[in-house]
Amino acid sequence: MRPLVAGNWKMNGLRAALSEVTTLAQMHPTPSCDVLICPPATLLAPMAEVAAGTSVAVGGQDCHAAASGAHTGDIAAEMIADAGGTAVIVGHSERRADHGEDDATVRAKAEAAIRAGLTAIICVGETEAERDAGRTLDVVLGQLAGSLPEGSLGASVVIAYEPVWAIGTGRVPELSDITEVHDALRADLAKHMPEAEAALVRLLYGGSVKPGNAAEIFGIENVNGGLVGGASLKASDFGQIVAAA
Ligand code: G3P
Repeated sequence: MRPLVAGNWKMNGLRAALSEVTTLAQMHPTPSCDVLICPPATLLAPMAEVAAGTSVAVGGQDCHAAASGAHTGDIAAEMIADAGGTAVIVGHSERRADHGEDDATVRAKAEAAIRAGLTAIICVGETEAERDAGRTLDVVLGQLAGSLPEGSLGASVVIAYEPVWAIGTGRVPELSDITEVHDALRADLAKHMPEAEAALVRLLYGGSVKPGNAAEIFGIENVNGGLVGGASLKASDFGQIVAAA
């Protein structure tokens, strides 16, 4: 399966940062993985213009479940597509924690993304307390079951496993722990959709992915790429992570 390496810029980036995309595209004119950057909403359209015709695709970090309406400050999946985006992250743990998004909300957003023709990158992941209580698989598979839209999905969804305690901390699970979760996700997907479709769903790992650890993480059988935060902001780092995929 062709890997996906996605960068989540979170609330970082002014227009001057668009040059990073140009540099990245020059570093990797024909990468051996799909490359995606999800900038803040203000940069979606200009980044899509800069990235047009290059190896870099652009996506959103969140969308509303509705296509339009009285939702001040929100962005519809259709707007992300209209701005030139091809994907959107939904259910990131920062959205779940900061905005109280539950699985049902995340599922509605994922459905909206698919309706708009976007790839929905659905995030799941346990907190440190949940891991310490031995509940990692319960939590992650529960979030998957609650957040995954029903019906024919295949390549229109990507699952990102991001242990909350590994995000922005420099801490990464043991490779055997990542393997266990990704194997469980792969097996569980087949309960939610036909096996042939489940096999098309890419499983990304996210949480302190850096140039120095990307190759070993991406080497795990059921890891089909990464969702990268801090190390996606500079083409010099992100380019190395793309090279590792
Ligand atoms: O969505 C990516 C993210 O949450 C991981 O962030 O900075 O640990 O790579 P970081």
